[in-house]
Amino acid sequence: MRGGFSTNLIKFQFLSSVLLLYYVSELYSAPLSYFGDPVPDGGDFIPMSPKGAPQPLIPFLAPSPLTPFTNSTIPKLSGVCPFNFTAADSILGITATDCFTAFAPYLANVVCCPQLHATLVILIGQSSKDTMLLALNETLSKQCLSDVNQVLASQGANDNLQEICKVRASNLTEGSCPVKDVSEFETTVDTSKLLTYCQKIDLVSECCSQTCQNAVSEAARNISSKLGDLTDVPQLSDIVEDCQSIVLRWLASKLNPSRAKEVMRGLSNCNINKVCPLAFPDTRHVSKKCANLINNHTVCCSAIENYMSHLQNQSFITNLQALNCAASLGMKLQRENVTTNVYNLCHVSLKQFSVQAGTQESGCLLQSLPSDVTFDKTSGITFLCDLNDNIPAPWPSALQLPASSCNKTVNIPALPAAASGEIGRHIKHHRNYLLMVLSFVLVLY
Ligand SMILES: *[C@@H]1O[C@H](CO)[C@@H](O)[C@H](O)[C@H]1NC(C)=O
Ligand SMILES: *[C@@H]1O[C@H](CO)[C@@H](O)[C@H](O)[C@H]1NC(C)=O
Ligand SMILES: *[C@@H]1O[C@H](CO)[C@@H](O)[C@H](O)[C@H]1NC(C)=O
Ligand SMILES: *[C@@H]1O[C@H](CO)[C@@H](O)[C@H](O)[C@H]1NC(C)=O
Ligand SMILES: *[C@@H]1O[C@H](CO)[C@@H](O)[C@H](O)[C@H]1NC(C)=O
Ligand SMILES: *[C@@H]1O[C@H](CO)[C@@H](O)[C@H](O)[C@H]1NC(C)=O
Ligand SMILES: *[C@@H]1O[C@H](CO)[C@@H](O)[C@H](O)[C@H]1NC(C)=O
Ligand SMILES: *[C@@H]1O[C@H](CO)[C@@H](O)[C@H](O)[C@H]1NC(C)=O
Ligand SMILES: *[C@@H]1O[C@H](CO)[C@@H](O)[C@H](O)[C@H]1NC(C)=O
Repeated sequence: MRGGFSTNLIKFQFLSSVLLLYYVSELYSAPLSYFGDPVPDGGDFIPMSPKGAPQPLIPFLAPSPLTPFTNSTIPKLSGVCPFNFTAADSILGITATDCFTAFAPYLANVVCCPQLHATLVILIGQSSKDTMLLALNETLSKQCLSDVNQVLASQGANDNLQEICKVRASNLTEGSCPVKDVSEFETTVDTSKLLTYCQKIDLVSECCSQTCQNAVSEAARNISSKLGDLTDVPQLSDIVEDCQSIVLRWLASKLNPSRAKEVMRGLSNCNINKVCPLAFPDTRHVSKKCANLINNHTVCCSAIENYMSHLQNQSFITNLQALNCAASLGMKLQRENVTTNVYNLCHVSLKQFSVQAGTQESGCLLQSLPSDVTFDKTSGITFLCDLNDNIPAPWPSALQLPASSCNKTVNIPALPAAASGEIGRHIKHHRNYLLMVLSFVLVLY
């Protein structure tokens, strides 16, 4: 992956305290400065500033040597859970890093929780090869969930993932889906059709073409119809949703864990990018200053800036999510009589909706297909940002819904690229990428 991005990647190294600062919420009073990056591994990064001028950046202190955290605790397992943790070892390792302690809350929506969900699907799917069941009962669910938490925490994951990702033991059961038996599943569903469309998905086009998604929904509807005629059943959507989990688990049992992971993450990305995950606090303070004819730009823009700084505290988001967020906030302001394009007036960029690391230049908008977080002892915690995005936030037109990113004819100025698969295009558009290297000291943990 790195090789492919070689010409448009730069590496940022953050002192571990950057994100710890987030924790103690002193970030905004402590802007960080950067020094030249010696490009630690391979020298294939051409340092570019977000604005395009070569301008190497590194932290003011070299990353501290990291303590290996992979064996910080020894998990105490229940001994009854049918999961084969050895077989899913590499997936669990990725999950633990994606959900790494202090970062987990900031990466929950886009990386950590989707990866955790994929992991659970894979573990159940793989175990079904022995148990012939695509769901656990309540008792086993509780024990397995606790085991998974322990295994992940022992590898450095946040130990509160159940809360952060809202996973309940019930999420490992069949829920309201009438089918959990592998053989019953295979006689009800056209499994070859399902495999044809889903054993490999095109990560870039799946969200628009919905090839695998449609096959999964169809299979889920087919197994839910085992309950009989569901036309007037109000919980139909819940039933179909529960059955979709069953379908995905079956699929995971037919694929090797890493392929299954790619498919699960690809599918969850489609949903992730449809929404804005940020919670918008009350905008009345802003609209009071910016409504109708703005008589003092400074006052309005400082209200906007203050508001944005609260949003930036929430979560890393993808470039496509940022577009949704810009549209949602814009609509909200317009409903409160803010008629001026305040994004333009106050130079609000898409990147400003995501977590910032001290200076605006180091704001990190994730790619629409976020890469996994990686860890190594020298660089620490690393993930990839789409740094191109000093893209002005588009002010929504009251008459028009935000353009779907699937509509090829829509040309939002410099629409953030759809996915990491489109490297070629990025180069054409002079996109820059930022590889964030967030070094981390385990002092607090
Ligand atoms: C991890 O395991 C190695 C060898 O098994 C041991 O030397 C080291 O102290 C362990 N580290 C922690 C943090 O437990
Ligand atoms: C778990 O998976 C590993 C590797 O695939 C395999 O060698 C081992 O036999 C499995 N264990 C059980 C209990 O199925
Ligand atoms: C749950 O499943 C396990 C393994 O199949 C079984 O031993 C146990 O009795 C079941 N528990 C309940 C409450 O059904
Ligand atoms: C887990 O189950 C709850 C309801 O019990 C549901 O709201 C939630 O969406 C489920 N989460 C996942 C990841 O399936
Ligand atoms: C679902 O059922 C319909 C009607 O029986 C069948 O044509 C279709 O192939 C099935 N699809 C899947 C994915 O099972
Ligand atoms: C806008 O308000 C600020 C602070 O109240 C004030 O200092 C500034 O002079 C005002 N600007 C204009 C153009 O009125
Ligand atoms: C950022 O979040 C922390 C913890 O949630 C909170 O205490 C702090 O006030 C927030 N800061 C801003 C600027 O919103
Ligand atoms: C927007 O302006 C209209 C007309 O001036 C006014 O009636 C309405 O209360 C305003 N809405 C808000 C939310 O300020
Ligand atoms: C795509 O956008 C164009 C121009 O905005 C619009 O006319 C067309 O209906 C859209 N197509 C779809 C499928 O949304």
